[in-house]
Amino acid sequence: MTAEPRDSESPQPRWNEPAIRVLMMPRDTNAHGTIFGGVILSYIDQAGAIEARRQGSRLMLTVSMDKIVFHEPVFVGDLVSFWTETLRIGTTSITIKVVCEVIRGADPQKKVMVTEAQVVYVNVGDDGKPTPIKRRANAYSA
Ligand SMILES: CC(C)(COP(=O)(O)OP(=O)(O)OC[C@H]1O[C@@H](n2cnc3c(N)ncnc32)[C@H](O)[C@@H]1OP(=O)(O)O)[C@@H](O)C(=O)NCCC(=O)NCCS
Repeated sequence: MTAEPRDSESPQPRWNEPAIRVLMMPRDTNAHGTIFGGVILSYIDQAGAIEARRQGSRLMLTVSMDKIVFHEPVFVGDLVSFWTETLRIGTTSITIKVVCEVIRGADPQKKVMVTEAQVVYVNVGDDGKPTPIKRRANAYSA
């Protein structure tokens, strides 16, 4: 199933800080010397999960990663911020947009949007089966 556009009932807080910030290290590189895409995807998954927790999901599984676009390469020494936005909260699933922005070099004002993706998580019970998300009245910083 493809995520629908924003549900009008969904809370859509815009955070003034990213879910995660990571400094890229040489160990994260691919054969070309730039950052391996799988490393970025792993952080995207974590950032989206943090956003899902902010919205009320507790025990969740990633069910799909979609609309992944690597716009620009990421380099060793880049400071990558993973910004999140809740696009939709369904019965048991939650759709999060993650945007990765890089600060490169000495100038903190010089930012480059490098990657974006849409991730769907399913809230599950202890039995691993989908269970309804209890939305928070006031989403909080996880
Ligand atoms: C997540 C999982 C429990 C869902 O089970 P399921 O039987 O497909 O669940 P359902 O059909 O009842 O769907 C549950 C919700 O997920 C959504 N969903 C299911 N498949 C989806 C997909 N491919 N893309 C987007 N949403 C999907 C459904 O729309 C539904 O949302 P809603 O309740 O908000 O309407 C099951 O697919 C699973 O265990 N997958 C493995 C997850 C995992 O291990 N992730 C880590 C990867 S290493």
